[in-house]
Amino acid sequence: MNNTNHDILVAKGCHGARKLKGTIVVKGSKNDALQALAASLLFGSPLTLTNVPAIEDIARLGNLLTALGVAITEDKKLGKKSLTLDTSQLHSATLDDDIAKKLRASIILTGPLLARRGEAHFPHPGGCVIGERPIDLFLDGFAKLGASITIRNGRYHLTAPRDGLRGAEIFFRNQTVTGTECFMLTAVLTKGQTVLKNCALEPEIESLGKFLVREGARIRGLGTTTITIDGGPLLKSLRPSYEIIPDRIEAGSFLILGALLMRELTITRCEPGHLDAVIAFLRSAGATIKIEPRQIIIRATPRQSYRALPLTTHEYPGFPTDLQALMAVFLTQATGESRIFETIFEGRLGYLETLARMGAEVHIHNQHQATVGGPTLLTGREVTSPDLRAGLAYLIAGLVAKAETIIHNVHCIDRGYEKIDERLAMLGFNIKRHHSP
Ligand code: EPZ
Repeated sequence: MNNTNHDILVAKGCHGARKLKGTIVVKGSKNDALQALAASLLFGSPLTLTNVPAIEDIARLGNLLTALGVAITEDKKLGKKSLTLDTSQLHSATLDDDIAKKLRASIILTGPLLARRGEAHFPHPGGCVIGERPIDLFLDGFAKLGASITIRNGRYHLTAPRDGLRGAEIFFRNQTVTGTECFMLTAVLTKGQTVLKNCALEPEIESLGKFLVREGARIRGLGTTTITIDGGPLLKSLRPSYEIIPDRIEAGSFLILGALLMRELTITRCEPGHLDAVIAFLRSAGATIKIEPRQIIIRATPRQSYRALPLTTHEYPGFPTDLQALMAVFLTQATGESRIFETIFEGRLGYLETLARMGAEVHIHNQHQATVGGPTLLTGREVTSPDLRAGLAYLIAGLVAKAETIIHNVHCIDRGYEKIDERLAMLGFNIKRHHSP
């Protein structure tokens, strides 16, 4: 990735025009790839991951693993990136502070390290500033598996009992995506039976779990809220290879872009079945969406008007919190008042203040609820991306607006969207990246 922390994007607004027609290919899922990198710790032989997105978060998690002694080789064929991870020389269980503090997904490594090395040492994980993002559910789970936990100078030190972790029943007080992923992986290397209850239902979890079962793991209940794992030694599979599933949040982002800005957009190499909530919402608002195997086509007339609708985020398969900001941009162009209720995170509405500066009609009631009125004419502004998803929301708002929008902190967007400026420019949008020295 050749961008720096100081890159900026300059987007020329379409001022509400919808003339473009094109096709965009969806990349591999960031959040599937992150957990799949952690899954390499379950194998005695090298794990190959294909369809890996070329984004910052993957590079960062890869750096964390390399520092632990994991050998990672990269291959690129037909524009698709593969990684092969060899953990045979794993020599440490201490996560690098600087990297782990920037990446929430670093927490997924801690359980498999604890199970494989008998210890894990790490800082409080970082990541998008969308709320406090505690890790109490992880610490409770590790304690249930028999680990001892000490906290010194803001770092967590986990130690397994001498004879290793023991399977246990873990009920997640609230559904946690990386918590479910972390403990599913940990339990594969934990003697005895582990029963995880109130698991998250994200499709990435079911997909990776089914792959692990194919490679010899004993996991039941995938796709339900109760997952049972009978653990044991490292998986003995000879040449395990896992294809990262399409990024449903990227696909959903493009659906919203298409509804707002294009006469017709074909979104290919995606999994429409992972987008029910987003498709249902857009269709209820009046969008014309055609679903085909592995692709979705969205059409909009130049005068297309959309209905305002209440938007409530919910764990999968409900409306994804990661698309809340982008759908708020859509709602600034819908006719009427829309109530937004962000139920997952308590700090994920801040971007609305910037949309208001662009001309959106916004009222923030509390940390979880806001109202957006429309349709409103947006005007380009100079803005700074606060996190990955809000950053893309600003870019789309800038394309809807009149005049120019300048976006700082573009590396936030690069964390989760591969070459987003180049890919949207290929559709005909006027977006330029400026590398500042
Ligand atoms: C994952 O974060 C995703 N990140 C997030 O995507 C996504 O927004 C989120 O799930 C919800 O879908 C990755 O997969 C790397 P949670 P995660 O644990 O696992 C609370 C993006 O843009 N909680 O499901 O960290 C937590 O505060 C990112 O791709 C605890 O209270 O989210 C939140 O309110 C942003 N204690 C709720 O649970 C804990 O120990 C759900 O969080 C853990 C979580």
